[in-house]
Amino acid sequence: MFNLTEEHLSVKEAARQFAQTELKPGVIERDTHMKYPTEQVRKMAELGFMGMMVSPEYGGGGMDTLSYVIAMEEISKVDSSCSVIMSVNNSLVCWGLELYGTEAQKQKYLPKLATGEWIGSFCLSEPEAGSDATSQRTTAVDMGDHYILNGTKNWITNGGTSQIHLVIAQTDPEKGHRGINVLIVETDWKGVVIGAKEDKLGIRASDTHTIMYNDVVVPKENRIGEDGFGFKFAMKTLSGGRIGIAAQALGIAGGAYELSVAYAKEREAFGKPISQHQAIAFKLADMATDIEAAKMLVYRAAKMKDDGLDFTQSAAMAKLFASEVAMKHSVEAVQIHGGYGFVKEYHVERLMRDAKITQIYEGTSEIQRVVISRGILNGELYV
Ligand code: CAA
Repeated sequence: MFNLTEEHLSVKEAARQFAQTELKPGVIERDTHMKYPTEQVRKMAELGFMGMMVSPEYGGGGMDTLSYVIAMEEISKVDSSCSVIMSVNNSLVCWGLELYGTEAQKQKYLPKLATGEWIGSFCLSEPEAGSDATSQRTTAVDMGDHYILNGTKNWITNGGTSQIHLVIAQTDPEKGHRGINVLIVETDWKGVVIGAKEDKLGIRASDTHTIMYNDVVVPKENRIGEDGFGFKFAMKTLSGGRIGIAAQALGIAGGAYELSVAYAKEREAFGKPISQHQAIAFKLADMATDIEAAKMLVYRAAKMKDDGLDFTQSAAMAKLFASEVAMKHSVEAVQIHGGYGFVKEYHVERLMRDAKITQIYEGTSEIQRVVISRGILNGELYV
């Protein structure tokens, strides 16, 4: 169904090579000490992974979403801290900016973001607005030629390392979601305060912070889209972002599977490799089947996006299914590895911890079900 081109295959090879040779050696240490992968992100930028889908005229790779998904998958087999940094920059920041930004905004920001010289953050979640994204308490008060931005954002990926934030804020509460705007904020502007770094269960080397905006002056030319377009911008970019996180989940499941197959062939019990025992062989069979099914959904969502079709529901399905596969089979990978699976050296316990966030960020599994079930009730989905 998906005829991978020479270009797709070379992206896969480059990403796999990079992940296995350059990410794997230090991944346990970075995870243990929450050490941000500065050098690794620099190398990802050199390889063109930070702005894969951005048009070449703005310094990007001009690749399709399927290429991006394939790269995300290979990198996530080893290091989801690196792949989330890449995913937020590619899908939530660069893609939305290129699709909806003004020419001046694109000229100013995209070349830096696409080449990885700068990193971006997407600032939607708040202490009291995660799934309920319309309940924004951050305010952007319209002062004529600028906005005054005040509020707090939570769990912001790349929060301490990014140079720009796309901040979702409420301008006119009476208009509900139509009163929300999205503003491009440079992080060295007065009033931007980077708060505490989170000590997380998984993706521990990625940089997740609380951010405060205290009377930040944001020029009006830094608003993306028409007045009140911010919520739709967030929804649209999140749909694209969900394909990236679905690919991350697919990669985590794939990494757990590859390690499990290798271990099961090598480890002996009761006089033969454990892969020869049905208890283990059946687990591997279930893993392989679920991963293939997840791959079909993820690649399909990417293809629909590339073909200009409405991919909202297919992205939600891909993320829902792939993240559940990642969680289920990373737990099974630990089980296959037995006691070795419970220690860091064998990598599968980290994959299991990393899998959990794919069911939470960019919309929980419950939110994906909301999106899918609305599609069913609106008659947009066939059976
Ligand atoms: N594309 C374009 N427009 C969309 C859309 C989409 N995918 N989804 C909704 N909209 C539009 C609707 O058409 C509607 O517009 P009109 O009123 O003009 O018709 C408007 O947006 C409001 O839509 P809803 O009435 O459906 O909104 P809702 O309040 O019921 O919420 C929701 C829907 C699906 C629950 C949404 O709030 C949602 O997705 N919540 C989850 C948010 C989320 O994913 N947060 C994650 C944080 S970001 C993150 O994790 C980043 C990171 O750092 C890794």
